[in-house]
Amino acid sequence: MKKDKENEIILMTEGFIRSVFDREGSGHDWFHIARVRNLALNISQKEGGNRFIIEMAALLHDLDDWKLNGNNQTSRAEEWLMKLGVSSELCLNILQIISDVSFKGAGVHNKVRSLEASIVQDADRLDALGAIGIARTFAYGGYKKRLIYHPDVHPEIHTDAEVYKANNSPTINHFYEKLLLLKDRMNTQAARIMAIRRHEFMVRYLDEFFIEWEETFKA
Ligand code: NI
Repeated sequence: MKKDKENEIILMTEGFIRSVFDREGSGHDWFHIARVRNLALNISQKEGGNRFIIEMAALLHDLDDWKLNGNNQTSRAEEWLMKLGVSSELCLNILQIISDVSFKGAGVHNKVRSLEASIVQDADRLDALGAIGIARTFAYGGYKKRLIYHPDVHPEIHTDAEVYKANNSPTINHFYEKLLLLKDRMNTQAARIMAIRRHEFMVRYLDEFFIEWEETFKA
């Protein structure tokens, strides 16, 4: 495909996604998508991969997310790509990345099938970490009407994707069930390096959270 045509497709997709995710309150708003796109392109600068495919997959990666759409089976991403007249080979490539990137539980190993998928998955995971990750985690917890923390409800490692989806434990548990595990699960070296500072900030945040909790409940 010509560069001009690729740019046009990206711009149209960006406009479409911007309108869909404009007033999203669960931490999956347009700026999440834009950050994942930029992070993915940054990683790709060091790791390679097809930049057009990476950018398209990053822009579309949350459009059909089960966390936001329930169990809707029809793929809006596929519909959109057909509408743009993207070749079926390219379409298949992009859709495969989207299905590879979603997190299905701490004990569930979902293998990525291409370098492009590795990069988009790393970018999405990086945006779940650090100060922004913390903000998004609590936004999502509120959206799901979850408690912030409950001292009697302990974190679980989910080995089953269905159980992970149905899980409604307090938001703090999510750090132990997913976020703190991500640093060691990055696919690329570039993302592994970027994850370190974000991971360390979350550890400090949790330390402070429990210091405040303990001192408040101490008799
Ligand atoms: Ni995402």
